[in-house]
Amino acid sequence: MYLLWLISFLSSAETLNVSKLKPDCDSVYRETYTSAFEFVLKLVTSKETYMRPFIDGLPSFVYVDMYVTSIADVNEKAQTLSTQVKLVTAWFNGIPLWEYYEECGFELFHANKELFWTPDLLIKESIKTDYGTTPSPYLQLHIWPISVSIDILALTTACRMDLYKFPFDTQTCNITFHSAVHTSKELVIHPLSEAKFITQDSKHLFEAQGEWELLLINPSNFNGTVLGNLHDLLVYQITIKRRPLLYVINIIIPVFFFLVLDVTSFFIDANGADKLSFKVTLLLAISVLLLILNDTLPSTADKLPLIGIYCSVIFSLIGIGILETIIVNYLMAKGAERRSAALMEKTAAVTGRDDSVRNQQILPDSIRDENEINSSLYWVRVARVTDVAFFILYIITIIVFLSVLGKNWIS
Ligand SMILES: *[C@@H]1O[C@H](CO)[C@@H](O)[C@H](O)[C@H]1NC(C)=O
Repeated sequence: MYLLWLISFLSSAETLNVSKLKPDCDSVYRETYTSAFEFVLKLVTSKETYMRPFIDGLPSFVYVDMYVTSIADVNEKAQTLSTQVKLVTAWFNGIPLWEYYEECGFELFHANKELFWTPDLLIKESIKTDYGTTPSPYLQLHIWPISVSIDILALTTACRMDLYKFPFDTQTCNITFHSAVHTSKELVIHPLSEAKFITQDSKHLFEAQGEWELLLINPSNFNGTVLGNLHDLLVYQITIKRRPLLYVINIIIPVFFFLVLDVTSFFIDANGADKLSFKVTLLLAISVLLLILNDTLPSTADKLPLIGIYCSVIFSLIGIGILETIIVNYLMAKGAERRSAALMEKTAAVTGRDDSVRNQQILPDSIRDENEINSSLYWVRVARVTDVAFFILYIITIIVFLSVLGKNWIS
């Protein structure tokens, strides 16, 4: 019903502007303004304007528009959203100013907020609510009996964030308005404009080009209990999307690159200790990135974020690679040991050839040397096969892991 007043007010605003052009309007406007002013003054001195305005036991109707003008901070660890919002609140004020309507453009005047009843709106999720600028002490009193108050608020609200797809995530945060003392029988809150307009205007007002992009602001109205009392609630659902580029460049690509380096380190000669120290360096580099990640992501997440899985699986893969290198090195060393043992015996046999007693033992000695060399070759071969088999398994694991992860992550 009061919405009709609002609409008629908006539509008549244009005709009023035109009629302002009438030449004799100045004095009429002044007279109307003065008499309306005196009328309101009388109401204020009798303290009638302190009471909640309503008709016939109906609830008071309050209309709210909230525009998000900037997103100051999104704290994943504390699960809070800090925004700057412009709040337009309009309500039926019950002051019969429409009697002063005439053609000459008198439509509103401004009065001190303190002298009138104002809706006591609270924000359910609020952790901290401040005025973004100095609060305006005034109200607009329109002759279609509504009052309008405009505030800029700096809000910090609790927001449950789902970081499963971090940094390719979209968050939805609620900002819920309700009256502090009035139940749903006494005060009803409705959105003033549609979701489309609020989103459009917010994007228009949105100044900063930060990490977050504003996708949608969707108001909805329903009843709900707050601490045992049934209140009328107005929920603004704010949907924001992260721009992931920074995290892709700083974490995802470096970690992937370390993995690629780890794969190519297969081609470093396995006999040297170089390969091992190279791989350990890679492991350390990844653990530095894990530390950075640890600063961003909350430990309370019920589903482990995919980026955490990504980093720790790659960390483990490189760790397993190091174990494998150690084993292969061990096998190689074992082979080399056998061979040098065999060579030593052979040279000993060759130098002792003059000894006639030893001559008879040349044959069985050479057979033993053959065995030693064979077993040395055997260990080297085992090492090679292990290395190649591991490499193939490693590549397959990486491909399967990355494709499964990528499918979950980007979709
Ligand atoms: C946000 O509000 C919607 C209703 O508009 C509700 O369905 C949803 O559960 C709320 N989310 C949170 C986290 O409270």
